[in-house]
Amino acid sequence: MKKWFFCLMALVVLSGTAGAADEFRVTILYDNTAHTPGTKADWGFACLIEGAEKTILFDTGTQPDILRHNLESLGIDLDTVDQVVISHEHGDHTGGLWFFLEKKTGVPVYFPASFSSGFSRRVESAGAGTVRVTEPQEICKDVWVTGEIKGPVNELGIFLNTGQGLVVISGCAHPGIAVMVRHARSVANKDVYFVFGGFHLMEKSKAEVDAIIGEFREAGVRKCGATHCTGEQQIEWFRQAYGENFVEMGVGRVIRIAK
Ligand SMILES: [Fe+2]
Ligand SMILES: [Fe+2]
Repeated sequence: MKKWFFCLMALVVLSGTAGAADEFRVTILYDNTAHTPGTKADWGFACLIEGAEKTILFDTGTQPDILRHNLESLGIDLDTVDQVVISHEHGDHTGGLWFFLEKKTGVPVYFPASFSSGFSRRVESAGAGTVRVTEPQEICKDVWVTGEIKGPVNELGIFLNTGQGLVVISGCAHPGIAVMVRHARSVANKDVYFVFGGFHLMEKSKAEVDAIIGEFREAGVRKCGATHCTGEQQIEWFRQAYGENFVEMGVGRVIRIAK
């Protein structure tokens, strides 16, 4: 009896720490550019966060077929996903969700509270849980959603709490990427070390992008990976400003971040 009890306890402890590692790994699954040969580029964004207590799918890209292709090409099985987080209600971030939910049910899907009731109903009818997010919250150890940030389109981002500072991941950053960085910094009361994802700056001038880079520097941002909807010219300006600390994105890129 005692032996069984200890076996059971050991199993509980082990399963509780499964997946936790000394680094976070973020794999880009969907992006406007492709990094790994054989993957497909398309307008949209999705990434997989591993190494935390839970495996998290952040955004899901646009076309289910392209998401499926990229997953097969990278040898990634989304069966490991424990939590889904959707940044904002645009098709280039939600499009692959329905394909994912056909394969896997029962996972919680976090999204900004202002999402349409139609979206919420569709998630529920696919057998997943819905978590409407208003305030910042830690969804598993050292992985946070920023809470819903108001903007032309309301949005939430994810940030990872690491020993080097925060790592902010944005879908499109419609509220403004500097706003999202400031927000994460004030929630955690800690500098931002690295920011990557879509920055939505296609229309912005060099002076406006320089002002954002100035805000990044003030927030402590030492590494930057602008991609997706940032704008090609604008990505180039970040690349020039950050030099060797600019981290190239694209489908298949794996970003490793020490905890
Ligand atoms: Fe987008
Ligand atoms: Fe968007």
